[in-house]
Amino acid sequence: MGSRWWGSCAWLFIFIFSFLLTCEAEPQTRDPSPPPPLDPEPWPCNVSLDSPPEQRWDPVLKRFDPAFLRFAFARILQESIPKWVHAIIRPIAEEIVSCVPQPFAGEIRGLFKALDLNVGDGLLLNLAYESSAFCTSIIAQDSNGTIYHGRNMDYAFVDILRNLTIDVNFLKDGQVKFRGTTFMGYVGLWTGQRPHKFTISGDERDAGNWWENAIAAFFNRNLPVSWLIRIALSEAEDFEAAALMLANTPIIANVYYIIGGTTPKEGAVITRKRSGPVDIWPLDPLSGGWYRVETNYDHWTTPPPSDDRRTPAIKALNATGQENINLESLYKILSEQPVLNKDTIYTTVMSAAYPDKYTTRIRTLK
Ligand SMILES: *[C@@H]1O[C@H](CO)[C@@H](O)[C@H](O)[C@H]1NC(C)=O
Ligand SMILES: *[C@@H]1O[C@H](CO)[C@@H](O)[C@H](O)[C@H]1NC(C)=O
Ligand SMILES: *[C@@H]1O[C@H](CO)[C@@H](O)[C@H](O)[C@H]1NC(C)=O
Ligand SMILES: *[C@@H]1O[C@H](CO)[C@@H](O)[C@H](O)[C@H]1NC(C)=O
Repeated sequence: MGSRWWGSCAWLFIFIFSFLLTCEAEPQTRDPSPPPPLDPEPWPCNVSLDSPPEQRWDPVLKRFDPAFLRFAFARILQESIPKWVHAIIRPIAEEIVSCVPQPFAGEIRGLFKALDLNVGDGLLLNLAYESSAFCTSIIAQDSNGTIYHGRNMDYAFVDILRNLTIDVNFLKDGQVKFRGTTFMGYVGLWTGQRPHKFTISGDERDAGNWWENAIAAFFNRNLPVSWLIRIALSEAEDFEAAALMLANTPIIANVYYIIGGTTPKEGAVITRKRSGPVDIWPLDPLSGGWYRVETNYDHWTTPPPSDDRRTPAIKALNATGQENINLESLYKILSEQPVLNKDTIYTTVMSAAYPDKYTTRIRTLK
């Protein structure tokens, strides 16, 4: 390892910086036409945690056209990285895969080898998505104390990623250990549920310069933010343990973690910097705080007028009222423009107390 490893990682992060410059999401449009009533659900898939990481995605892969996957991954890489940077970075990324923690390393290796694709590219794709996810997340408590959680995932490459969106049951001993929504080939989770315990979503925070400290963070074995969501879903045994893990585990980028539980007041927006929590904003239903909305700005600041999805979401929540909030009304709120916009890939609504109600729909603004 030593200095060669240093040099390698420096290049990786230079790549990521260039990705950030080239890959910001487009500004939202404000098309006044109403959203379509019911969009399609993604494919439901099972991934068995009892299979070795290298093989566990094989059954899911079989359901995709390999030619389409190769085309999709190549296009995302090609549009994200200048050709000459890619030429330099790819062999370095291949080496770094062996330093990546399990099961992530094995799953990336298995997926991309099965497609006859370069494993370094697989890691780059898994890191690249990390850097620009624009989203809206809402947690709410109804008058009976039930907790609901919804999210919109907004991102670049909408036309491709809509076709790669999957709802995955992660099975342990034949039972659903946790569930999540992701893109085929992407092993982290931005959205997920541990049945009867908690739900989590992640929204990007201030990714514009996250790379500044990322090299140091990576050497401290900090985790990519979507990998921590998956680890919390897999390992935390209750809401409190998950919230602690999400708040305190070192990560390589700033992020908002939104977590919902199963009993009254179990819900919070955790504002993160790499090393730990900046702010924890819990539900406070007794003082009017029956919901919390997080987009991509600190909740104690005003969102920029050019991208205010927060105020429309709050207006819609106020108009709905605590007595009427449920998964259907939450979905409607997430379907109002500009909360729903041309970059929205999917909407998920969930409630950990009712795990079977977990629903994702792939969105197209018509
Ligand atoms: C996933 O596994 C569950 C439980 O084992 C099973 O009932 C279901 O049919 C499987 N679904 C798919 C798409 O394979
Ligand atoms: C995505 O899938 C739809 C429906 O199957 C198809 O019409 C469309 O061409 C696909 N998009 C891409 C980029 O392949
Ligand atoms: C929503 O309702 C709260 C409590 O009644 C109020 O303070 C807030 O101004 C309302 N916000 C909007 C955007 O309507
Ligand atoms: C609360 O529970 C009562 C009794 O079970 C039910 O009638 C009512 O619809 C529930 N209200 C909400 C907002 O879920």
